[in-house]
Amino acid sequence: MIVSRPSPRATRLARAAFLAVLALAPAAFATPDTSVANKQGFDTDVIYQIVTDRFVDGNAANNPTGGAFSSDCSQRKLYCGGDWQGITNKINDGYLTGMGITAIWISQPVENITALINYSGVINAAYHGYWARDFKHTNPAFGSFTDFSNLIAAAHAKNIKVVIDFAPNHTSPASQTDATFAENGKLYDNGTLLSSYTSDGAGYFHHYGGTDFSTLENGIYKNLFDLADLDQNNGNLDTYMKAAVKTWLDLGIDGIRFDAVKHMPFGWQKNLMSYIHGYKPVFSFGEWFLSPDEVDPANQYHANTSGMSLLDFEFAQKVRQVFQAGTSDMTSLDAMITATGTQYAQVNDQVTFIDNHDMARFQVAGASGRKLEQAVAFTLTSRGVPAIYYGTEQYMTGTGDPDNRAKMTSFSTTTTAYKAIKALAPLRKSNPAIAYGTTQQRWLNSNVYIYERKLGSNVAVVAINRDLSNAATITGLFTSLPAGTYTDVLAGLLNGNSVTIASGGGASAFSLAAGGVAVWQYTTPITTPTVAHVGPMLGKPGNTITIDGRAFGATKGTVYVGATPITGTAITSWEDTEIKAVVPSMTAGTYAVSVKNASSVSSNAYANYQVLDGGQVTVRFVVNNASTVPGESVYLTGSDFELQNWSASTPLGPLFNQVVYQYPSWYTDVSVPAGAALQFKFIKKSASSTTWEGGSNHTYTAPASGTGTVVVNWQP
Ligand code: NOJ
Ligand code: NOJ
Ligand code: CA
Ligand code: CA
Repeated sequence: MIVSRPSPRATRLARAAFLAVLALAPAAFATPDTSVANKQGFDTDVIYQIVTDRFVDGNAANNPTGGAFSSDCSQRKLYCGGDWQGITNKINDGYLTGMGITAIWISQPVENITALINYSGVINAAYHGYWARDFKHTNPAFGSFTDFSNLIAAAHAKNIKVVIDFAPNHTSPASQTDATFAENGKLYDNGTLLSSYTSDGAGYFHHYGGTDFSTLENGIYKNLFDLADLDQNNGNLDTYMKAAVKTWLDLGIDGIRFDAVKHMPFGWQKNLMSYIHGYKPVFSFGEWFLSPDEVDPANQYHANTSGMSLLDFEFAQKVRQVFQAGTSDMTSLDAMITATGTQYAQVNDQVTFIDNHDMARFQVAGASGRKLEQAVAFTLTSRGVPAIYYGTEQYMTGTGDPDNRAKMTSFSTTTTAYKAIKALAPLRKSNPAIAYGTTQQRWLNSNVYIYERKLGSNVAVVAINRDLSNAATITGLFTSLPAGTYTDVLAGLLNGNSVTIASGGGASAFSLAAGGVAVWQYTTPITTPTVAHVGPMLGKPGNTITIDGRAFGATKGTVYVGATPITGTAITSWEDTEIKAVVPSMTAGTYAVSVKNASSVSSNAYANYQVLDGGQVTVRFVVNNASTVPGESVYLTGSDFELQNWSASTPLGPLFNQVVYQYPSWYTDVSVPAGAALQFKFIKKSASSTTWEGGSNHTYTAPASGTGTVVVNWQP
């Protein structure tokens, strides 16, 4: 028998392989909450928003031909050639990971119209992806399903999540009176025509004209600009759209950015989220535009109860005022952080940004890049999931659509902005105070904001001086940092200094440079069970929830939804930093989620998890003859959690009464338990009075699937 000894070459190879594994170690052995496998929580991620057509042309063969294409991208309303292969190339060459990016949000991937539209003499193509034709096909200009799968695989191999834009509000531009306009809004189901806008016998679309944006209702049921508005209360459309979402979920996407959520019925969206979270739950966030200084309770209600987060426009608009325009100051920035902290039940899950494809780019031509660098540093270290618009790191400019969507100008990895993102993005994974922590103002005047993020004893303190000309003397600063000297995580890249903290947290006086940004941090293991995140925040018995946090221990303990325990095999995985558990059969309602470790030590309670009463369908509730006096509106309440459990103080509403039905009729679309025998009543409410309907409760059995409509008369 010959015993072979490994050759020196084999030994070298084995050693190289071993070292390669070591090099991979940070990603491979990262805590589960920071892994690409976690599609339910994005708090440790940094999203990079890409207009697919404008990033990289990785495959010239799929470029549209003729008048739809601008090879030098000088005509920015046309296709410029960017595609999924191009994004894949930039993932593979390390440009994104080099910046610390761990998620990308790409343009709506579905097949769009190919017709060109002449608006005021300018030819427009569907390069942006918002003019859908077939939600179950790919946009061939972006690639095939194979290209899409390759993109997902390449991204996942680099621990990058993929978020798709998705726009179920509408198909494409159409005219009620001219069937030859563009593609007549036609909707296809995997190649089969379902309906056109002017010949819509099956009622896939709304036909109420264009919105004047005057009310929420007006914006929901009328067309957004000239976009053929889909009727989500149509059972066929509902079925189609869920199947379309399933197509993309099955391809392995990690998140969805929903377009125009202010313009779709809330009830249908909650219903769609309950479908998604019951099938393959992914982090989802909606676009609900808010103007500067606009605060909208309906926006907050959506963020807190629909099962999806929102893009944080309050944050974005304020950051732009403070750091870009200079029309607001640091006191106001701090006030926004405080206000949104109470408005949003899960403020850490709202998606923060400083610009996007619908607003002027943050960088103003000729302005100091330091303003952008400060805004980016603030966003990366604040509560919320940061999204960086492509080209921000290259200081791209552009005052509005389409100039804010120019072809990516450079892939330099040496700009200050690129290096700042590279330095700060990893903190979201390495310091749980950044990903999950509280925010506390520590020092404030009109130009200086020093704030502290904290989870357990993990701390990050960020100091920003937005005065680009004058340094600021900082005295009397207190922090939660343990005594010691802390160097700036940015290593002076943005002129930040070190800080020395005495026992008790007091900082020695220091000078914060003009335009300076300093980040000081401290991490330490958390030793008591801590629930830092639960996702998704809406589900039904049988759905899985993912609980991220620290110190759960190696041995299975108990998960609680309210007081209802989950144990044994209903806990499908239990690790020190992540638990997956199946929601038990229990009374529908809003509950806190908490954990008890194997030694019966309890965690904090993570509030506002909604347990729905089983599978859901969307039902339109209509009441006729409900006349009201000025100041009074009609609301709905009824027998189930979904109908607010007969609450007269917090019923559903106010109902709508202008577009689909008109006063004295009122209506609302609600996600209710499929097949349930519902009882309900309408209520007239004003600031000072509550008037219940008389008579017996209305009764209605919700359909087992599809959608429903129930119409009743107001019972005096
Ligand atoms: C909002 C999108 O962000 C915008 O770019 C688009 O044109 C509209 N919704 C319509 O889809
Ligand atoms: C008050 C309503 O008037 C009644 O009809 C309904 O049955 C109860 N609330 C349920 O508690
Ligand atoms: Ca191409
Ligand atoms: Ca709509």
